[in-house]
Amino acid sequence: MINAYTVIGQPIAHSLSPMIHSLFGELTQRRITYTRTEGTDASFEGIVKQWHDRGGKGCNVTAPFKEQAVQVCSHLARSADRAGSVNTIHMRRDGELVGHSTDGAGMMHDIERNIRFPVRGRRVLILGAGGAARGVVGPLLDARPSALHIANRTVSRADAILQYFADDPAAGVPMSASSYEALSEQAPFDLVINATSLSLAGSLPTLPDGLMTPQALAYDMMYSREATVFMRWAHDQGATVSDGFGMLVEQAAEAFLVWEGVRPKTRMAWPRLLELLNAH
Ligand code: ATR
Repeated sequence: MINAYTVIGQPIAHSLSPMIHSLFGELTQRRITYTRTEGTDASFEGIVKQWHDRGGKGCNVTAPFKEQAVQVCSHLARSADRAGSVNTIHMRRDGELVGHSTDGAGMMHDIERNIRFPVRGRRVLILGAGGAARGVVGPLLDARPSALHIANRTVSRADAILQYFADDPAAGVPMSASSYEALSEQAPFDLVINATSLSLAGSLPTLPDGLMTPQALAYDMMYSREATVFMRWAHDQGATVSDGFGMLVEQAAEAFLVWEGVRPKTRMAWPRLLELLNAH
């Protein structure tokens, strides 16, 4: 039996997920197929249902359908409920479509295990308050930072995330929100995560000097072949920098675990993936 998966997005042609999951299949000796499917707002729901009807075992959902995917699922795992979005749908034998969000767990695995940067007791700043930011707040809170601050151009969106997590079992961590301008009033941060979509446009909000402690980690959730503007800025400020390549691989590993019950040894996949990416 070959388990069939697909990733649905718009645009989708450049998605690296088929490559990553094929490699995971080899590493875990699971027989899987993994394709790309282009969707539209109107066709998204039908694509998911058809995939299920035809015996598909699951799908990944990427931009811009992660919020819409919540409605298609019959059940939400806690990860998706907290994130308010779904990036992994598990099509179970009993007919249930269970939505998960593996982005936050993937990012935490990359930061704490791959980069070996323990978040417990650290001051954390998230830049941005869109879907990408909300998706990582729950798993970040679980890691017990000493404070979590969210800065955004539209401060009300950052406030809304705070509000949403006010009743979360992990809420005990002091949380705050502000504009980028008001960051100059904050004590330095140990971990700064760029969750804005600005890196895509090669841009960055204006950030004050002294934003980070000397041993800080600056983490861009985006992956691109060259260092992003955020990474270049943070490097100039003396921080250790990372792009979102590890997060991309680890969120995929978490999805593979949901579907196949085994978490691929991602460290073994990295050299091959980097090689394949460079040839891509
Ligand atoms: P995603 O799902 O990638 O998070 P999103 O929900 O559209 O996408 O959020 C995009 C994020 O990038 C938001 O934090 C957004 O700020 P606003 O909430 O103020 O819109 C941020 N962003 C996008 N373009 C921006 C710009 N030109 N300047 C500052 N922030 C920007």
